[in-house]
Amino acid sequence: MRIDIISVLPELLESPLNHSIMKRAREKGLLEVHTHALRTWAVNKYGQVDDYQFGGGAGMVMMCEPLVNAIESLQANVQYDEIIYLTPDGERLSQRLVNQLSLRQNLMMICGHYKGIDERVREHFVTREVSIGDYVLSGGELAAAVLTDAIGRLLPGVLNDETSALFDSFQDDLLAPPVYTRPAEFRGWKVPEVLLSGDPRKVEDWRHDQSLARTRNRRPDLLDDGA
Ligand code: ADE
Repeated sequence: MRIDIISVLPELLESPLNHSIMKRAREKGLLEVHTHALRTWAVNKYGQVDDYQFGGGAGMVMMCEPLVNAIESLQANVQYDEIIYLTPDGERLSQRLVNQLSLRQNLMMICGHYKGIDERVREHFVTREVSIGDYVLSGGELAAAVLTDAIGRLLPGVLNDETSALFDSFQDDLLAPPVYTRPAEFRGWKVPEVLLSGDPRKVEDWRHDQSLARTRNRRPDLLDDGA
């Protein structure tokens, strides 16, 4: 998969996408991430990419021209399946949406700043608007990094058996069960007996029960019956 990210602060994206699983995915050639500094397409020699909003009011708006020039120059080389604008008023990100996007070939992401981007770019170029939660970040970069990470780890070959995404929280609308590692007893706190039993059926049943209980307790909205 290829992901192109347009941003006024591409440096913000470097660290989260250059470590651990994302780093491995990129090194293995399974995920290509290209970041693009919007100022490359600035309208003047001062690097201007934003301007005052029509109608007055505090806060700058990211201008059409640099964004459209950036988008079109990337489109000249790549056919994008989606052009995603990260914004707090977008569709709330879910594992279902991540799964869906992980099946695409080429994605473009646009990171907003200030008051956001000129509405005409949203109308004429953006195909999907995504929010990573009901709170406001100072820019879309961290949201783009979150989305890229969530998608990247699902690409075939990125995770091995041990880190498989199959048993993640949300993959089947259930939260993940508790996990333990050695020692079997620490300060008198014991690991549940069943996990030491060596009986895979019992372990699987216990995990499922725990997942269900945890989901019912913490996120009843994920269960169909809402119980
Ligand atoms: N930009 C600012 N806040 C955001 C959010 N919650 N999700 C996506 N992009 C954002």
